[in-house]
Amino acid sequence: MKILVIGTGAREHAIVHSLQRETASGTAVHELHAAPGNPGIAASTTLHKVDPLDGSAVAALAEQIGAELVVIGPEAPLVAGVADSVRAAGIAVFGPSGEAARLEGSKSFAKEVMAAAGVPTAMAHLCTDADEVAAALDAFGAPYVVKDDGLAAGKGVVVTDDREAALVHGEACLANPNGRVVVEEYLDGPEVSLFCLSDGATVVPLVPAQDFKRAGDGDAGLNTGGMGAYTPLGWVPSGLVDEVLTRVAQPTVDEMARRGTPFSGVLYVGIALTSRGTRVVEFNARFGDPEVQSVLARLATPLSTILLAAAHGRLAELEPLRWRPEASVTVVVASEGYPELARSGDPITGIDDAGALPGVHVLHAGTAISASGELVSAGGRVLSVVALGADLADARRRAYDGVAKIGLKGSHHRTDIALKAERGEVTVP
Ligand code: AMP
Ligand code: GLY
Repeated sequence: MKILVIGTGAREHAIVHSLQRETASGTAVHELHAAPGNPGIAASTTLHKVDPLDGSAVAALAEQIGAELVVIGPEAPLVAGVADSVRAAGIAVFGPSGEAARLEGSKSFAKEVMAAAGVPTAMAHLCTDADEVAAALDAFGAPYVVKDDGLAAGKGVVVTDDREAALVHGEACLANPNGRVVVEEYLDGPEVSLFCLSDGATVVPLVPAQDFKRAGDGDAGLNTGGMGAYTPLGWVPSGLVDEVLTRVAQPTVDEMARRGTPFSGVLYVGIALTSRGTRVVEFNARFGDPEVQSVLARLATPLSTILLAAAHGRLAELEPLRWRPEASVTVVVASEGYPELARSGDPITGIDDAGALPGVHVLHAGTAISASGELVSAGGRVLSVVALGADLADARRRAYDGVAKIGLKGSHHRTDIALKAERGEVTVP
């Protein structure tokens, strides 16, 4: 199959890696294309230059290469309606319409759909001025949770005990054009990411994963896009996936269909296991990065079959997904200064050595080829080192052996990805 993958990150490299493995193992023969891609993705695809936010340009590219499936990785093109342009050109696309992607693009819209669908989530107030923000903060009390209503590339949410900092963030969000702020109840308890595939009607969940959002060990430091992930989660209640499917994902997909804006693609359900039960923290309209790196490492069913079934409205016909029994741990190698001011342009070494370790592969995110032809850093999250192992301890050891092979001046990574889970120390209140 000719497949075009849109995006530049480790998420898109993980998708390409899974598709390329199908060809390598003889399960299927794919001709892979990507745009804009990155130097890691380039190794197994033909790269094309295109503005990923320009729907007509993406559709024209898909037509030109004769793509039979277009997979749109990141949220920004989805929210911009790029999937609509590709669908309008008569090409199968994995990814929701712009209207449906509002589940991620607008926090207040997501809350409205959750309320209509009876989905359990944090209580929230939508505020349009500073006085409303102050009143909502006092109504809920500390810890304060303040969210930019719109897309903010991971920088929109502040969780703090400091009322002044909460107010300052609220005012900063309000200062944006059409700025609106959601203030909500704090959810205690560990978080889980569950990717639920939908074709607009049927929902098929993948396996749950956990992400590490803070920059430093022990969840210290600033929020990031995600510093590591692992799966399986031995500590989650056994009925969790069914509960999220029947109480969250299916009712949400049904509600979107009822509104005439069916959701097809990945509904990423971020859940908190709180003392008062399971609550939705957030919806996203795409795979989570770095969770998907570990989830796809364990997927045994060919990914292309699943994505195509979702794109063609045939998920109900899909056989039950098969999973490898191993555990997977992903560790993100970030550049010096990330997440504040990330350094770029430093040479990266050791990727081949890391990838040669048993069960380890390395995915690119913020990398580039310099004028002199060298692989250099080009962004905050530079690489994802993904390992499969017999259990979490084994996968952790392999992932960190891989990280140790990588050379990048000033780089940093968390050393405690999946550590509490390995030790059986994750507790659900
Ligand atoms: P969001 O952009 O909504 O995903 O939020 C980003 C992160 O902020 C989440 O993954 C949580 O770690 C944290 N967060 C968001 N909402 C809440 C909440 N109501 N209570 C506690 N933490 C939250
Ligand atoms: N790992 C969090 C996200 O992709 O939003």
